[in-house]
Amino acid sequence: METRIKTGLIGHPVAHSLSPLLHNHWIKFYGFPALYQAVEIAPGKLDESVRRLVEEGFIGFNVTLPYKQDIIPLCQSIDETARRIGAVNTVVVREDGRLRGLNTDSYGFVENILASDTKKDLYGGSALVLGAGGAARAVVHALLTLGVRDIKIANRTKDKALEIGAVFPSKAVEWAERAKAAEGVSILVNTTSLGMTGQPPLELDLQYLPKDALVCDIVYKPLETELLRNAKARGNPVVTGIGMLLHQARPAFREWFGIMPDVDEEVRQKMLQGLK
Ligand code: ATR
Repeated sequence: METRIKTGLIGHPVAHSLSPLLHNHWIKFYGFPALYQAVEIAPGKLDESVRRLVEEGFIGFNVTLPYKQDIIPLCQSIDETARRIGAVNTVVVREDGRLRGLNTDSYGFVENILASDTKKDLYGGSALVLGAGGAARAVVHALLTLGVRDIKIANRTKDKALEIGAVFPSKAVEWAERAKAAEGVSILVNTTSLGMTGQPPLELDLQYLPKDALVCDIVYKPLETELLRNAKARGNPVVTGIGMLLHQARPAFREWFGIMPDVDEEVRQKMLQGLK
């Protein structure tokens, strides 16, 4: 039988992830004898499951909820970006079996903004980020990379926003004050799970948001969230969340296979079909 190079995604749950569709598209496109598979890991089994993947010859894997933090102590080295964000979404298994953890979510967010047709220059601008979980930390890192100077974070649990402020220059604002905090910003980003299919809606009054502010949602199911629909209706440029998912996958693929893949229209359409 043909030798298969093994890669994949670990998490819980992972069954509905679009990552296998994406990576297997690129694997086929570049002709690697490889397979990217979703590996479900039950709570409490991370350590032994990761050891098993290494024994089975996995060259690396992505990490999703709820293991993006728990994987850190299992890695022998952590890249600077992942260390600052405090989460690992990609692991490379080195030849000696040691694990290197990195985070490509911030890269995914930056590239998605740069690849979008909004052409908005955020350099020196200000931002309002809703949420203070792992995704928010990657987004704040990305905004700083894009040259945003003044970042406000509104989170239901304010302490978590204050914790981000201890690592990245940013200011915590009250969740109840989120609408007013949008005054004068160049970009608004929702990193909470609110507005996602099956989750409560994101309640946000957009009256203070400048009409030219870029509005991004990292929720991609539905693709056009209520936030994006409302923002678009008042003339704001918007960026959907699917692009971040597509772009964060590129450097992970490059780490494992040595080629930086492209996000072309075919793969984008495939992913949009996969969402349905
Ligand atoms: P991720 O790593 O994907 O960011 P997470 O760490 O679970 O996931 O973060 C989810 C975010 O959505 C948090 O900011 C959370 O707010 P809390 O820190 O207060 O929990 C936010 N969130 C989830 N449900 C919410 C709700 N009903 N109202 C307000 N914020 C909510």
